[in-house]
Amino acid sequence: MLKKPGEGENTIGDSMNRELHRIVKTMRVLQGCDISCYDEPFLSASLEKRMAATSLATVTDYCDYLSGNADEAEQFFRSLNITYSEFFRNPLTFAVLEQQVLPRLIEEKQDSCTAELRVWSAGCAAGQESYSVAILLDELLVARKSSLSFRIFATDISGDSLVTAGRGVYDTVAVQNVRLKHLQSCFETGHGSYTVSRRLIDRIEFSSYDLLDERSTSPPGSIYGDFDLVFCSNLLFYYKPEVRQFIINKVCHSLSYGGYMVTGEAERGIVDTINLEEIFPMSAVYRKIKECQVMV
Ligand SMILES: C[S@@+](CC[C@H](N)C(=O)[O-])C[C@H]1O[C@@H](n2cnc3c(N)ncnc32)[C@H](O)[C@@H]1O
Repeated sequence: MLKKPGEGENTIGDSMNRELHRIVKTMRVLQGCDISCYDEPFLSASLEKRMAATSLATVTDYCDYLSGNADEAEQFFRSLNITYSEFFRNPLTFAVLEQQVLPRLIEEKQDSCTAELRVWSAGCAAGQESYSVAILLDELLVARKSSLSFRIFATDISGDSLVTAGRGVYDTVAVQNVRLKHLQSCFETGHGSYTVSRRLIDRIEFSSYDLLDERSTSPPGSIYGDFDLVFCSNLLFYYKPEVRQFIINKVCHSLSYGGYMVTGEAERGIVDTINLEEIFPMSAVYRKIKECQVMV
């Protein structure tokens, strides 16, 4: 670990803890945002990356550089929003969805004569997660000759990601986890790009929604929530514990009774199973078994 010059045993971690508060204050002034919602180890790691990018050796030097520097504040803020995603990310979780959860939901919906199956991809990034579930639902419904309809509400705070998601155009690397039969049935190909079929794009409503918004419990476009399935994957671990719990409670609240929540497999330890039960060992799929309180 780097040492602060002239400070003997002091590590970068020591100075970070002292200076993080200063950075939080600076970011509030320069960016009008509260970055104290993020997990401290994640903030420290992001700070180290910005120090490396700006060639500043000490945390104090970086804090001085950041003060009054709106461009660097913007760069730092952007570095905190990780938008990496993949089609069919977490294969075990998607196998559980394909083989157990989605068939069960389809049967339940058909038996109850409900008009549609409702899915929310909360933190959809560039759309890979929403299109993955759309591909599976489309295939399962066609195989069953079912007239059941589905709607996916896909939301994010990243405007750039939402634009990419809405276009539904991906390169060869992005679609490497997609099965050949799905590439053939759900994409149009041309000039090294893969465009999601219109019939799937039309099932998805992409919109901006901040999961930390305290005034609402679900995206306004969905009107009343009541989702059968919500993805809240690979975003919880960036936030500090109380913020993660706020998000989980919000998502759980937006689920219909017996509905399912999906997190990232790396986030399994974060979900407490008071209101949710794990569906399959090691997968990150949970079923709502009790109502959740959300403070809004
Ligand atoms: C690492 S990506 C994961 C994308 C996808 N869910 C997956 O599992 O591959 C996290 C996404 O969550 C979004 N995000 C982070 N905080 C958010 C918040 N407070 N409200 C809505 N979206 C958020 C980010 O913009 C980013 O697109």
